[in-house]
Amino acid sequence: MPIKWDNRFSVGHNTIDAEHKLLLTTINALEIALHHPEDKEPLLFFIDQLHEFALTHFHHEETLQLKHLFPFREENARGHEYLIVDLNRIRDDVYRIAKKATLSVTDIADLHNHTTYLAKDWLIAHLLKEDLKMKGFMGDDGDE
Ligand SMILES: [Fe+2]
Repeated sequence: MPIKWDNRFSVGHNTIDAEHKLLLTTINALEIALHHPEDKEPLLFFIDQLHEFALTHFHHEETLQLKHLFPFREENARGHEYLIVDLNRIRDDVYRIAKKATLSVTDIADLHNHTTYLAKDWLIAHLLKEDLKMKGFMGDDGDE
């Protein structure tokens, strides 16, 4: 089921919130693409988009954290490293599955599990456990 943006995810900075919404929307799009897993192009497109958006976002977040001297920036950057390793692992597996001529029930279940994991354990955990600490540290919404 697609995850809906919730105000409790807001870190109080418009640009960062917008990037988090984009990551969430991309994961939801990946889930929608899974309604037709035999059509692999959208799956690969959205997993690649997620990878690209995530790298850009983490870099942007780290730049803003440095600018605002966010006190937990080192642990946040370490969190980003784990998230990238995790995302690379899942992306590789999506590519491995997509190479198959026919998908088995297990392959489709794996794709669903990856998407659920990305939404809940990957993105929401990043937002709620690490990024919410930025609230109040990142200045006004005006800087990009
Ligand atoms: Fe973030």
